[in-house]
Amino acid sequence: MAKELLQGKRGIIFGALNEQSIAWKVAEKVHEQGGTFVLSNAPIALRMGNLHQLAEQTSSTIIGADATSVEDLQNLFTSAQEKLGGKLDFVLHSIGMSPNVRKNVAYTQSNYDYYQKTLDISGISLHKVLKVAMEQDAINEWGSVVALTYIAAQRIFPDYNDMADAKSLLESIARSFGYHYGTHKKVRINTISQSPSMTTAGSGIKGFDAFFNYAEQMSPLGNASVEACADYCVSLFSDLTRYVTMQNLFHDGGFSATGVTKVVMDKFME
Ligand SMILES: NC(=O)c1ccc[n+]([C@@H]2O[C@H](COP(=O)([O-])OP(=O)(O)OC[C@H]3O[C@@H](n4cnc5c(N)ncnc54)[C@H](O)[C@@H]3O)[C@@H](O)[C@H]2O)c1
Repeated sequence: MAKELLQGKRGIIFGALNEQSIAWKVAEKVHEQGGTFVLSNAPIALRMGNLHQLAEQTSSTIIGADATSVEDLQNLFTSAQEKLGGKLDFVLHSIGMSPNVRKNVAYTQSNYDYYQKTLDISGISLHKVLKVAMEQDAINEWGSVVALTYIAAQRIFPDYNDMADAKSLLESIARSFGYHYGTHKKVRINTISQSPSMTTAGSGIKGFDAFFNYAEQMSPLGNASVEACADYCVSLFSDLTRYVTMQNLFHDGGFSATGVTKVVMDKFME
């Protein structure tokens, strides 16, 4: 890939927890392409993960923020612009968590306090990030915001639980805010609908291994890797995709457009 696609661009990358995280790989690739950024995660995650290693490797600063707290986000956006020396060009929202999934509560039995938390952390936080950015006029014209999502927003995957509802909300917020931020300041907002990936969030879903293998065989190109997802994020942060906005972009090896594959059919012919 060409180098320095993001030379001179500044941003915030939310959600790197460990080396498996999608955001971790995005940070490495953005750094390779000349972009500078602040890494952010929830204060509790900063204590659990090894984000300092990534910060060192990419010469970046860590600023903690609970993405559900507008106050934390205000502080983050102000401090990030100070640290980086100007307005931002890209933001990665790579955040997801469901207490119902964590505690194995079935979808039909949802605990509503947990459900609210799922929606707040995994969906509404994108709205809060964008609202704070807009209020501070923190993103340059043609800036790009990308959030990670999953096809359970459109189709049922029973064990994805209330995260499916949160992802529908997330994708809708990207579209709605994409209109307003686009007309206001030419800021672009998209979601990437990624293949199942072996990360902390991914493998928290019940039966994930079997599902990962199923998706692999249902995708003409196979599951898209986390590295490939990071490349796609870089392309969306770059000036090569300036007119892409308000889209939910499938990055899934063709899974979303496939009814059945020969390899899966063959299993039913045995
Ligand atoms: N892994 C998959 O199979 C897969 C597939 C499609 C989409 N996604 C999405 O990709 C994104 C990143 O997940 P991942 O797979 O890299 O797993 P991950 O567990 O490494 O990342 C999730 C991140 O969300 C952060 N987070 C949770 N609550 C937060 C809060 N209140 N404030 C700020 N940050 C908070 C976590 O600390 C963690 O860093 C998520 O939106 C996830 O739903 C994952």
